[in-house]
Amino acid sequence: MPATIIMGGQWGDEGKGKLTDALAGTASMVVRANGGSNAGHTVKTDRGTFKLHLIPSGMLNDDVDCVIGAGVVIDLATLAEELRDLANRGIDTSRLRISDRAHIVLPYHAQLDRLEEQRRESEEIGTTLRGNGPAYADKVSRHGIRMCDLLDDAILRRKLAIEVDSKNAIFANVFRAEEVDFKQLYQDLMEWAEPIRPLITPTEVLVQDTLAEGKNILIECAQGAMLDIDYGTYPYVTSSSPTSAGACQGAGVAPTQVERILGVYKAYSTRVGAGPMPTELLEDTGEIIRRRGNEYGTTTGRPRRTGWFDGVAARQSGRLNGVTEVALTLLDVLDTFETVSVCTGYTMPNGELHHVPAQLDNLIGAQPQWASSAGWMQDTTELRSFDDLPLNAKMYIDVIQNQIGAPVTYVGVGPAREQLLHR
Ligand code: GDP
Ligand code: IMO
Ligand code: MG
Repeated sequence: MPATIIMGGQWGDEGKGKLTDALAGTASMVVRANGGSNAGHTVKTDRGTFKLHLIPSGMLNDDVDCVIGAGVVIDLATLAEELRDLANRGIDTSRLRISDRAHIVLPYHAQLDRLEEQRRESEEIGTTLRGNGPAYADKVSRHGIRMCDLLDDAILRRKLAIEVDSKNAIFANVFRAEEVDFKQLYQDLMEWAEPIRPLITPTEVLVQDTLAEGKNILIECAQGAMLDIDYGTYPYVTSSSPTSAGACQGAGVAPTQVERILGVYKAYSTRVGAGPMPTELLEDTGEIIRRRGNEYGTTTGRPRRTGWFDGVAARQSGRLNGVTEVALTLLDVLDTFETVSVCTGYTMPNGELHHVPAQLDNLIGAQPQWASSAGWMQDTTELRSFDDLPLNAKMYIDVIQNQIGAPVTYVGVGPAREQLLHR
């Protein structure tokens, strides 16, 4: 059962890209399972820093095959650009294969994303405006165009014409917005598809063949469990399942083939976009975390909201995803704090809460219950062994692993490959 899932346990940007890169050497294949170009995975290597949106973070490891699985929605222009950029930087991208079942994010999806956000006004989700939500909506309502459709021109034209017609009815009559020009869209698609077409294949077959040969695979998720469409902070979520179950589905792997579920959590909380965040720090402390952690979105450049570690959310994602071990990243960001805090429950006007409720209005007025402890006030970025971590840092790690319910086996003390301590 040699599959390992690497998933985010919070609201995204936990360092999944870094962990995938670090573990890629132990696997033959890395499969990206969900999300689209809303994701931004940063990997710092000796060849420089790479920001990947669609291509699996295993790509920076020369010996690893990479797959974009059926659960991903693909913006062809972004993918074509990413392939070009990697090739220009000397990365051999011929190792990439793309699922013929993956859905395509079309420019009209991005247009709808923007129009729907505008229409929500103060209730906006704060999406990345990449068209992910509308593309997944089309997938589920069976209006999607898939990668396999790029392989047959007659089929593509026929399906695209139907979809453009129905989208234009919405643009014209609901939003009074500019309609899609079929000819232009088709031309653009042909241009973007050119370098991508040879990579399209039934990847679930490749994945299963690799597992059958007894080789290891890594499944790289995008986003984080608290952005899950079912168990996240709905509606302030993404439109896919960034969970261990979603990872199986998106990669083409059965739950019984998974051996490890590595939950990546950062040592505090961040969130981009709207939605509740009971541990948010709106004053200086939050700004210090943002500055020290360089907490600005990889995809949109937006400042990320910051706060103390939310143990309630972490416990929920640890349990629902069967996290077997934890990578705790960005611990170094907390090096300068005299006191560090973890939220272990919410005090509500009518009692206590130890899970994230479905009805987010029920979180209004939630007061975090803090487990605060003395910080370690010591630079950890030069440390290369878990044992050398300061005692107070180890105690902090203990509080977090008790909250998640799985052992912390990796600790991040900086973005570079060597700044990952294995316990
Ligand atoms: P992902 O979306 O989960 O892959 O995470 P992102 O790449 O969006 O955000 C994580 C950011 O933190 C990136 O800029 C990483 O280079 C950086 N990073 C990862 N691990 C560490 C760490 O342990 N310490 C510090 N200081 N930065 C880290
Ligand atoms: P990675 O893989 C952080 C957030 C958006 C918004 C919500 C919905 O880098 O961790 P969407 O565009 O998906 O419809 O936006 O989800 N979001 C992310 N936040 N990291 C991500 O990806 C995210 N992908 C989506 O900010 O709040
Ligand atoms: Mg990210």
